[in-house]
Amino acid sequence: MSSATTVALAQTLVRPEILDLHAYHVPDSAGYIKLDAMENPYPVPASLSDEIAGLVAHAAINRYPDPSAASLKAKIRAVTGLPEGMEVMLGNGSDELIQLLAMAVSRPGAVLLGVEPSFVMYKMIATFTGMRYVGVPLAADFSLDLSATLAAIAREKPALVFIAYPNNPTGNLFFADDVRQIIEAAPGLVVVDEAYYAFASDSFIPHLGRYPNLLVMRTYSKLGMAGLRLGFLAGPAVWLEQLEKLRLPYNVGVLPQLVAEKLLDHHEVLLQQAERIKLERANLRRQLETVPGVQVYPSEANFLLFRVANATAVFDGLKQRGVLIKNLNGGHPMLRDCLRVTVGTAEEGAKFMAALQGTLNQLA
Ligand SMILES: Cc1ncc(COP(=O)(O)O)c(C=O)c1O
Repeated sequence: MSSATTVALAQTLVRPEILDLHAYHVPDSAGYIKLDAMENPYPVPASLSDEIAGLVAHAAINRYPDPSAASLKAKIRAVTGLPEGMEVMLGNGSDELIQLLAMAVSRPGAVLLGVEPSFVMYKMIATFTGMRYVGVPLAADFSLDLSATLAAIAREKPALVFIAYPNNPTGNLFFADDVRQIIEAAPGLVVVDEAYYAFASDSFIPHLGRYPNLLVMRTYSKLGMAGLRLGFLAGPAVWLEQLEKLRLPYNVGVLPQLVAEKLLDHHEVLLQQAERIKLERANLRRQLETVPGVQVYPSEANFLLFRVANATAVFDGLKQRGVLIKNLNGGHPMLRDCLRVTVGTAEEGAKFMAALQGTLNQLA
């Protein structure tokens, strides 16, 4: 068969909205100081990595994993401090949970509502699953535009609302009272996405069970386990029982289950790393504030959003100097000339600042 025939066949078979999509782009980061993906820069401490090596050596990888991951879930419940009666469901990263939620409520005309700019996966997954996506712009200072959001909820009656708390890529934590009003007004599910909970001053976990339509989602990706792919959804059993039907039985492998459980046994080590990241965030923010032509935004996450005169030129200059961050220019009109840098170690921060100064001097 000629390749032209194959292309024609793919274009006939694949849904037009998928043909129009661009795949989520992950740049090649080999050789760079990697500050583009909100990873924890600290490795597992040596004492723990030896223990993990022993566990992995004896893991029954010839067997399918425990499909219910009961032991890991019990550990997650304990370290999270879930309110009485709330359940947990695991995902292969929280991306998978977003997809399961959308699959569960998708039907012709069903709406997934998000605010903008926010995590791009909400919109992408709405498209994958045949939902209609509605994005409500944030206010100019990146806080929630409450009246616009409530008006959109009344108008669109979304089946599913995602609120990233703190928000990515802006880094700020929305006012809790605004989020509460959204939960109360929404006729469908509201998922508070706490991917950056370890770096934030507030959480909706204590509110679980107070609202019939509230679920809280977290990931361990930002807390040192990005490579394991593990996220969870917490909330009333009524919801999770339905979502469990859509979860593929072995979505969290033997090794991620074992290693995550061991790491959560030492949760305090991970939280100490998060505290170091928070100190470094404050340090980096102070330094960025002193650089002429740079506007840096408040952050309760492990990254900082900042605006410059020409984001693409600065991004390229940093890359030439061996530092990879995220260029948000072009992603959304409100992110014009914005860049996002992950908070790494103090040493990485110093290299980033030197590369930024060098780039800005060259561009001046
Ligand atoms: C707000 C938010 N939610 C969810 C995720 C997905 O995390 P993961 O799939 O690694 O668990 C991210 C990743 O950047 C994020 O920023």
